[in-house]
Amino acid sequence: MIVDGRKLADKIKLKIKKQVRAKNLRPGLGVILVGNDPASEIYVKAKEKACQEVGFYSRKIVLPADTSQKKIISSIKELNQDKKIHGVLMQLPLPRKFNQEEVIKAINPRKDVDCFHPFNIGELALFKKEINLDQILAPCTAKGVVKLIKYVDSQVRKKVVVVGRSNLTGKPIALLLLALGATVTICHSQTKDLTRETKRADILVVAAGKPRLIKENMVKKGAVVIDVGINRVKGKLVGDVDFEKVRKIAGFITSVPGGVGPMTIACLLENTLLLTLSHTRPDVTSGRYGMKTIIF
Ligand SMILES: NC(=O)c1ccc[n+]([C@@H]2O[C@H](COP(=O)([O-])OP(=O)(O)OC[C@H]3O[C@@H](n4cnc5c(N)ncnc54)[C@H](OP(=O)(O)O)[C@@H]3O)[C@@H](O)[C@H]2O)c1
Repeated sequence: MIVDGRKLADKIKLKIKKQVRAKNLRPGLGVILVGNDPASEIYVKAKEKACQEVGFYSRKIVLPADTSQKKIISSIKELNQDKKIHGVLMQLPLPRKFNQEEVIKAINPRKDVDCFHPFNIGELALFKKEINLDQILAPCTAKGVVKLIKYVDSQVRKKVVVVGRSNLTGKPIALLLLALGATVTICHSQTKDLTRETKRADILVVAAGKPRLIKENMVKKGAVVIDVGINRVKGKLVGDVDFEKVRKIAGFITSVPGGVGPMTIACLLENTLLLTLSHTRPDVTSGRYGMKTIIF
């Protein structure tokens, strides 16, 4: 069965739209885009459109590829201080010459809508008890992946294999699933026998950025397969999973496009709303640096 990420994302967006209207809120998302990478431009446009759909305010700062690290950081600070903005998003990846870690650290943790600031990702890593997925700040793609898994199979206390260990996707996906009680194995480019690992998975999440890496002989019959990858091959978008072949083996599978992508955007909106609510409720702020992740 193909898991429809667009349908679930639309449900989430509708819920957000209703909440925004009912509470008379105007959540604001600020996005910084550096350079003119066509894929990044498309993602940023989609995020702006999604904001409009649910009644959010959005502000975009576009900087040329030859901008300076200093200018990127000063743009982040501008958004940090903008009272209409509750969530600040740096469109990643940045062109290589920039220091991405330093840029992420410049985001105010209380406005860190993608949850990549070391303070927030640290909070997530230090989970103490089971978390409520709808109420915590977590990286948008990771949240989207886990919501898709729970959509098809509410029981995540299973054997999960995540292919990819990046800070953007693989690691936060593994962290969230671990917090929800899954038994998680993380694979990467140095994993000795990838097929042996992936074949054991009840739930397989692939975030490697390698077109059609996962073949049908690498998947357990009936497994839930979530494809995070977005790759352009001869002008066409393909995932990290050989969709046409693996769909015959998997119990549930996401497609590319139409799977994780729309869920990432829905979770970005959800995080923006959570941050807006946390700003309007003084009782939920804590600590010198920002907010506690699991306290909304
Ligand atoms: N759907 C969405 O909303 C969304 C959002 C973000 C990213 N993406 C897509 O997700 C994919 C991953 O993104 P990313 O930023 O995490 O990529 P990344 O930073 O390049 O990380 C890729 C990870 O996959 C591992 N890997 C690469 N080749 C492998 C192989 N042959 N076997 C096992 N592991 C392998 C790498 O291992 P090492 O660590 O050993 O190098 C690394 O950990 C990309 O296609 C990206 O476009 C989608």
